[in-house]
Amino acid sequence: MYERAGKVLPAGVSYGIRDITPYPFYVAEAKGCKLTDVDGNVYRDFWTGHGALILGHSHPLVMDAVAAQLRKGTHIGFSHELEIELAERLVDMVPSAEMVRYTSSGTEANMYSSRLARAYTGRMKLVKMEGGWHGGYDSLHKGVHEPFDVPESAGLNPKTVEDTLVIPFNDLDAARKALKGEDVASLVVEPLMGVGGFLIPEPGYLEGLREICDETGTLLIFDEVISGFRLGPGGGQGYFGVTPDVTILGKIMGGGFPIGAFCGRRDIFERLDHRKYPDMRERSFHGGTFTGNPVSMVAGIVTLDLLREGKVYEHIDGLGERVRKGLADIIEGSDVDAALTGVCSTFGIHFQKEAPRNVRDVTRNDAKAAKAYYAHMLFRNIVYVSPTLPHSFISEPHTEADIEAYLTATEDFFRTYKG
Ligand SMILES: Cc1ncc(COP(=O)(O)O)c(C=O)c1O
Repeated sequence: MYERAGKVLPAGVSYGIRDITPYPFYVAEAKGCKLTDVDGNVYRDFWTGHGALILGHSHPLVMDAVAAQLRKGTHIGFSHELEIELAERLVDMVPSAEMVRYTSSGTEANMYSSRLARAYTGRMKLVKMEGGWHGGYDSLHKGVHEPFDVPESAGLNPKTVEDTLVIPFNDLDAARKALKGEDVASLVVEPLMGVGGFLIPEPGYLEGLREICDETGTLLIFDEVISGFRLGPGGGQGYFGVTPDVTILGKIMGGGFPIGAFCGRRDIFERLDHRKYPDMRERSFHGGTFTGNPVSMVAGIVTLDLLREGKVYEHIDGLGERVRKGLADIIEGSDVDAALTGVCSTFGIHFQKEAPRNVRDVTRNDAKAAKAYYAHMLFRNIVYVSPTLPHSFISEPHTEADIEAYLTATEDFFRTYKG
């Protein structure tokens, strides 16, 4: 399959981060927290569809609702009730949400919200974090990987990133300096840095950003594509108790189907309203063929209703605590340097002595050890992403047995790895 794939897909994959050395396994079926490949191998999945599948693969209630919707229409292209129903839930659950617009991905939601911030403030600059990942949108595709001052991709027009300033996470002085000139439209931050390795904001950091943004008239944007509905029904803003002006959502809110959304204050979102702002020089454009897709909407509605009950969080956050505690014990009893990050149902392992505060610290991660760990876990049928920076998600179908299997395999590695 890998040979076949290489003939038609660059690198044989649909997304570079899905590549595995020496070649990927090919999934034939995904159910609960288990993946079965074409050779019949069964894996415990701690990647859970890029973190999107908080209820696991093919949750029966989601599948039933989707099956019923398929008979009524897969894509409408006109207004329908489901788009209101899902938006009402978002407004109810996400503290900053007063109005919502949908996209088909987190990348698009970031793109449109950056534009909206510029339209609302009349300013052009954007501030983001080193290591902050907001998808492949040109203006935010900067300073994601070390070295942070080198273009993230060939083909990026330097003009599209020249108004983007990149600052370190957990550094309020850097934020104060970047926003000083009062010409920045928005500061975007993941309340829990996902791709950076589940980095946690220090006490007072998000509050400090809120204050600096208020003082300078800069919009504070939380990119909650990972933390949204992962750190509880109110996402990172509910968990950490800081409310942004605009929130980016994706992944979990689509119940396993493609989606993105941006939501926030009414006065900001009215800039998208062509009735209020008929002059296109004042209005911020947003749209897309598959926006408000009914299949994604219905899957999202069922997912959010289950999450709102709270039992799912009790279970997955409990398993999260168990795995972090078990990992901490293993690391303490081992000669291999490692530190943990993550909260709730997320956990990251960094092969370095101290837990990183930001991605500058993550550069101390011993990638050789991380890769050896990945191979070790893969041979024990446990999968996550990425091979060089293990960060894992727990979903509702995971059980104590899955966590014990993870810990046993990890203990084995930490006991035997010689560097
Ligand atoms: C925080 C964050 N923002 C944006 C994105 C991009 O979302 P998508 O892959 O749906 O375009 C991601 C993807 O992982 C993400 O983690």
